[in-house]
Amino acid sequence: MSSPIAIPSSAHRVVPSSPSSSPHMHSPHMHSPQMKVKVLHPVENVDLRLLLLENISQDAVAAFRAQGFHVDHHAKSMSEDELVQVLPAYHAIGIRSKTKITARVLKAASKLLVIGCFCIGTNQVDLPAAAQAGVPVFNSPFSNSRSVAELVMGELVALSRQLFDRAYELRQGVWNKQSKGCWEVRGKTLGIVGYGHIGAQLSVLAEAFGIRVIFYDVLNIMALGSARQVESLDALLAEADFVTLHVPELPETINMISQQQLAIMKKGAYLINNSRGKVVDIPALIDALKSKRLAGAAIDVFPSEPGANGAPFDDQLNGWASTLRALPNVILTPHIGGSTEEAQRLIGEEVAQALTRYLDYGSTVGAVNFPEVDLRALTQEQGDHIRVCHVHKNQPGALKQVNDALSPYNVEKQFSDSKGEVAYLMADIADVSTEEISKLRELISNTRANILTRFLA
Ligand SMILES: NC(=O)c1ccc[n+]([C@@H]2O[C@H](COP(=O)([O-])OP(=O)(O)OC[C@H]3O[C@@H](n4cnc5c(N)ncnc54)[C@H](O)[C@@H]3O)[C@@H](O)[C@H]2O)c1
Repeated sequence: MSSPIAIPSSAHRVVPSSPSSSPHMHSPHMHSPQMKVKVLHPVENVDLRLLLLENISQDAVAAFRAQGFHVDHHAKSMSEDELVQVLPAYHAIGIRSKTKITARVLKAASKLLVIGCFCIGTNQVDLPAAAQAGVPVFNSPFSNSRSVAELVMGELVALSRQLFDRAYELRQGVWNKQSKGCWEVRGKTLGIVGYGHIGAQLSVLAEAFGIRVIFYDVLNIMALGSARQVESLDALLAEADFVTLHVPELPETINMISQQQLAIMKKGAYLINNSRGKVVDIPALIDALKSKRLAGAAIDVFPSEPGANGAPFDDQLNGWASTLRALPNVILTPHIGGSTEEAQRLIGEEVAQALTRYLDYGSTVGAVNFPEVDLRALTQEQGDHIRVCHVHKNQPGALKQVNDALSPYNVEKQFSDSKGEVAYLMADIADVSTEEISKLRELISNTRANILTRFLA
């Protein structure tokens, strides 16, 4: 099922509340619902052209078109040479994981303002080169949290009932009804390691099944429902019937479940890993399964994963693959934790909104390679106000030069921040005539540190 993306529509739209409506936008900046938000456009009034590759959802295409953007949509990705040829005509590009945006592509794309990665990762983009070209990159890191949490719920029951082995046997024509070693999940203890977006969702779902939830996280986090935070990973491992991992890959989480930790787990417990492949020491897990210390495991992520569907998952890829594949009550899945239609639709919505907020309002909240800057919306009463969006090199004196240029005007509000070598300033200034805008543009664009200056009105 798909549903249209909820972006305020039409070129001369009146938006009833702030465009800054995502949960991570700062609410003190919001206007009351009675205030009519002024819809901004680039002062040059150019038609913004978007190139969407890799079959990005039609909902996103429709939403961009409804915004008045010109959209070209392609099913496939493009090579570096193709991008160098084509991208100079576009102001924005939407990609998934196959399209590589290299420094060479960025250099050629002289009009490019923003990149949307309609996926979780952003490794396919040269992020520092994009930042230095004044191009923020947006993605959607948490849209599939619910999908992962639901998969874990399925795995809890499947492991507890040896579901995959029984179903596999019957597909082979073998009837093998048994209850020994099969359990209800009700009343058991689930230990969640990492209580972030996925861990917290899972906590709520598990309690609805009558499961007791404990969790361990490096942060002190308010527990949902009746869940309880425990003081250490060891305490969690010693108490849980099921241990499920939901931490990021960091130096301290690599092999965080190894021989020593598996030895602390209860005899007959289960391990589930849908986080990152390197978090579990798989040879140690194989030993714990062979010795029957663990009663089963579900693994969705691996230290090395095949690059394409159909490619072998064998000992050449991971030396232990055939041993793991042969063990009873082990569920192996090809990194499908977040792969659902709903997650894809949410990704489309979130990234499309982020691109629109940047192009129309200058907001970089959620950008992965850029300082995150936003201003509360202008209202329709502020007709002669303009918004200056100035990307510049993070160097001494840069702001002074810009503020000198702005000094004849009333700066209603401004905010700037920096990330590494790049800084970004947004300012709303009052009483600027159309003639003055081009003079102001020249002054700011010619400052020493200027990377990119845009005016929205
Ligand atoms: N299998 C899939 O398809 C799939 C899909 C989405 C996400 N993931 C992975 O799931 C993991 C969790 O994702 P999320 O969105 O919940 O992340 P998140 O950032 O919202 O939460 C991670 C939590 O782990 C905690 N943490 C960090 N280091 C820790 C440590 N050493 N010990 C204990 N807790 C620690 C953090 O404080 C945070 O609360 C990530 O690794 C992500 O890449 C996998």
